[in-house]
Order: sequence, then structure tokens, then C-alpha cells
Amino acid sequence: MPSLFDPLRIGGLELPNRIVMAPLTRARSCCDAVPTAIMATYYAQRASAGLIISEATGISREGLGWPDAPGLWSDAQVEGWKPVTYAVHEAGGRIVAQLWHMGRLVHPSLGGGQPVSASATLAPDFAHTYQGKKPYTLAREASHDDIERIVGDYAAAAKNAVAAGFDGVQLHGANGYLIDQFLRDGANFRTDEYGGSIDNRLRFASEVIEATGDAIGMDKVGIRFSPNILSQGVEDSDPIPLFAALAERLEQLKVPWIELREAHRPTSAGSMPTAPVSPAMRPLYSGAIILNSDYDGPSARARMAEGVADAIAFGRPFISNPDLIHRIAVGAPLSPGDEATYYAGSANGYTDYPALEEAAAA
Ligand SMILES: Cc1cc2nc3c(=O)[nH]c(=O)nc-3n(C[C@H](O)[C@H](O)[C@H](O)COP(=O)(O)O)c2cc1C
Repeated sequence: MPSLFDPLRIGGLELPNRIVMAPLTRARSCCDAVPTAIMATYYAQRASAGLIISEATGISREGLGWPDAPGLWSDAQVEGWKPVTYAVHEAGGRIVAQLWHMGRLVHPSLGGGQPVSASATLAPDFAHTYQGKKPYTLAREASHDDIERIVGDYAAAAKNAVAAGFDGVQLHGANGYLIDQFLRDGANFRTDEYGGSIDNRLRFASEVIEATGDAIGMDKVGIRFSPNILSQGVEDSDPIPLFAALAERLEQLKVPWIELREAHRPTSAGSMPTAPVSPAMRPLYSGAIILNSDYDGPSARARMAEGVADAIAFGRPFISNPDLIHRIAVGAPLSPGDEATYYAGSANGYTDYPALEEAAAA
């Protein structure tokens, strides 16, 4: 079995180790979703990761509903990302952009109009807005014209990602956002060719993948799912057949890698995971499978030894341990993060977590 410190080829990328930085929204962009200079420092500090998956990044105004999150639909955003990708590459790293359409989870006050989803549904709980949390508003069912436009927006954002210096993209198919809203029978009640059967519910994701692959080359495209948890009101009555069919589709489309946020304990939002889907996906899919959620060094090593995962993605540990790779290698303790600063918008709790040597010297 490969270890966390063996290299891994995914598509056109050669990862020097199998410890991946999971996508983490940090809300440090500004002024119409343009990345800021401090983001270059933050990502470069974490460049020893085998691969960095960027924070979720909006493909369009309509699709972005998180205050101060970045986008990839305007020239200013592309220019804003260039120093970030440059800094990561200069530090010896690799970075892909996570492409995001939040669907029904976008509040109209962010400027995108009535939110769009697979079906006319209302998400539970509260939306993030510049005026604090507000109840979600009813989404409208995406028309065929909407679907065509949104698929085009994914392809355009992928091209912009490459223009901004990213090594590829990861499509955000997890956590109850638009792709997930189409996939699951808990949010997709359509009666046309995009709803109903598993095959129909896979259609939107498949079209997005194909268009993105056509735009930048399928060797640069990955996708993320959260198959076994209820996320932001989105779940499936029978995840294993859905994700087995998805594995077959991803194999046909030659998608080189997937990342699964496959929980094995209740999430911080209190969602109880159902059975893992990765064992059913593994024999049907020959690309790399990256597993995420709640790992530390020892549990990541143990998971790799089971033979399903090709790599392990870490989220929260990367926030507070910029040198996570080194700490796992030497078995050093991990520093805890401060949830209060996750989205707080300054250097505090962002670029000021020390690496081991800096901590020892202080
Ligand atoms: C502050 C924060 C921001 C997150 N942002 C994203 C995101 O932008 N995209 C995404 O797919 N998941 C996001 N997640 C989920 C993480 O990628 C990851 O799946 C989760 O934290 C579980 O992994 P961990 O136990 O290693 O932290 C976020 C999680 C946290 C804590």
C-alpha cells in the first residue's frame, strides 16, 4: 500500500505527497469578490501540501452567496488570483481552484436575483449576507436555458482559473450546493430529463464535467462530493446506488480524481453520517480517490492502509498548522484552530499561525 509520503499522479499533476489541503472558505477577498494580497501569503505558507484545493470560488454573481468569498468570472478576479498562484508555485506547491455555484443557498441581497436550484425549494436555516444571517428565500426551478447558461459559466470560470495560473479546477459537488441539489432526491423533484431516475439526476453534473473538460482538458478537472451526510438540507434516500452510478459515469468521462468528504462521525453541524460510499465506488473508478473528514496523522495512515484512499485531504488542521506535512512526518502535535477567526477577515487566525520552528523560537 502507498504511504502518505509517496508521490501520486492525478491527471497532469505530480503530487510529491498524498496529503491534500481541503477547500476552506476564509472570506478574505474584497470588493466584488477579488482576491487580496494576504491570500497569497496564506496559501504560500501551506505550499508543502501535495495539492492545495482553493477555497470555494464563485463562477458567477448569481452563484456566489458568501460575503467576501472570491470569484472567477471577472478580469479583476483573474488578476487578483495571479499573485496567489504565483506565490504557491514559487514556494514549490500546486493549487487548483474549487468552482462553486451555491444554487438555492445564495441570498438575493448579494446581487444575483432569485436563487436558482434543481427544483423550487427553500433551504433550511439561514443564509450568509453582508447584513448578517437572514432566512433563505424560495429558489426557482432552473429552466433548460438556465442550465445551459450555468454549464457555460462553469466552463468560462475554468478557463479563467487556468488564465489565473491555477493548475486545474475542482468542481464543488458537495455540501448541498447546486450540483448536489441536482444529484439528490431530497432536493431534486424535477420530472424532466434532469430529475427522477439516478441517470437523470447525474445529467447536470455530467454536463458540467464535460463542458469543463472541453474548456481546459479533462486532465485538469476533479470533483468533490459529500455523499454520506445531510448537508444544508440536501441528502439522498439511497446514497450507495447513486454514488456507484456516479463512479461509473466519472470513469466513462475519464475524470482523473475525486475527493469525498466522507464523514465517519457526526459533523460539527450535527449531521449523522450514513454508510461510506467509497468502498462501492472503488472497484468502478480507476482515478484517484481522496478521502476527507476528521483525519489526523495516525488515522490518515490507517485509512490509507485499507486500500480505498489514494490520498487524504485535511481541512481544519491546515488552518492552524501551515506546516502540517512536516508535523505529520515527524509525529508532532497539531495546533488547535480558532473557529471565531475562520471568516473574520483579517490576518488574525489566518496568516499568523506559526510553523513548528517559529513556535519553538518564540
Ligand atoms: C472554515 C471552513 C471552511 C470550509 N470551506 C469549504 C469550501 O469552501 N469548500 C468545501 O468543499 N468545503 C469546505 N469546508 C469543508 C472542509 O473542506 C472539510 O470537508 C471539513 O472541514 C472536514 O474536514 P476536516 O475534518 O479535515 O476539517 C469548510 C470547512 C471549514 C471548517
